Amino acid sequence: MPRKLVAGNWKMHGSLADNATLLAGVVSGVQDLDCEVAVCVPFPYLSQVQQALSGTLIRLGAQNLSEHAKGAYTGEVSAAMLKDFACAYVIVGHSERRSLYGETDAQVAAKFVAAQGAGITPILCLGESLQERESGVTEAVVARQLDAVLAVAGIAAFAKAVIAYEPVWAIGTGLTATPEQAQAVHAFIRGRLAQHDSAMAANVVIQYGGSMKPSNAAELLSQPDIDGGLIGGAALVAEDFLAICRAV
Ligand code: PGA
Repeated sequence: MPRKLVAGNWKMHGSLADNATLLAGVVSGVQDLDCEVAVCVPFPYLSQVQQALSGTLIRLGAQNLSEHAKGAYTGEVSAAMLKDFACAYVIVGHSERRSLYGETDAQVAAKFVAAQGAGITPILCLGESLQERESGVTEAVVARQLDAVLAVAGIAAFAKAVIAYEPVWAIGTGLTATPEQAQAVHAFIRGRLAQHDSAMAANVVIQYGGSMKPSNAAELLSQPDIDGGLIGGAALVAEDFLAICRAV
């Protein structure tokens, strides 16, 4: 059985003042949980959040990184820089990065490798658009995205990786995949990894993401292949985020 992980993805939200309030609320409520908890924050707040989380059980994460180690890449942030702030996790291949910033499967795979090279666990996001779901190619899309990483990193790399299945049509829309829809894709992902290494596949954390909230978390998290959540909007409200963590 994989462990469980609930990670907040703050996206481009926050301010020093708002973060302090949110973190105080989250930190005060994380005792006695059956899951690991992380928050993936905007780069400028890594230092603030690192300090606020020190001595707590909550892990720090970032939302993106460069595939390059260093050099003339204006505006980019390397894995080693994230490691300087003790990031445990970094999201790679979020659908907003893929669709708004043109990140390719190959680039996402390179970022995955760069993160692991610095000892940071990548949270690899996979997911289909509404059009792709409606044309019946969900599994083909998720397989293509996953295989691109497997080809470069190999199955052994999944010992230190997390997968997040995030149907694009469910992100920030209020539409959630039904527990059955999500479970089917999670099982497909695990099955595809199992073709390479069944023990590895059985232990990989596969989170669901896409409008997960207190009212639907328990049902989603009760599915056998859903091992936690990657939480956007609901991670910005301490009580909602904690309610999801308690639903695990
Ligand atoms: P959401 O975002 O929970 O607001 O749908 C999830 C995500 O994009 O990681």
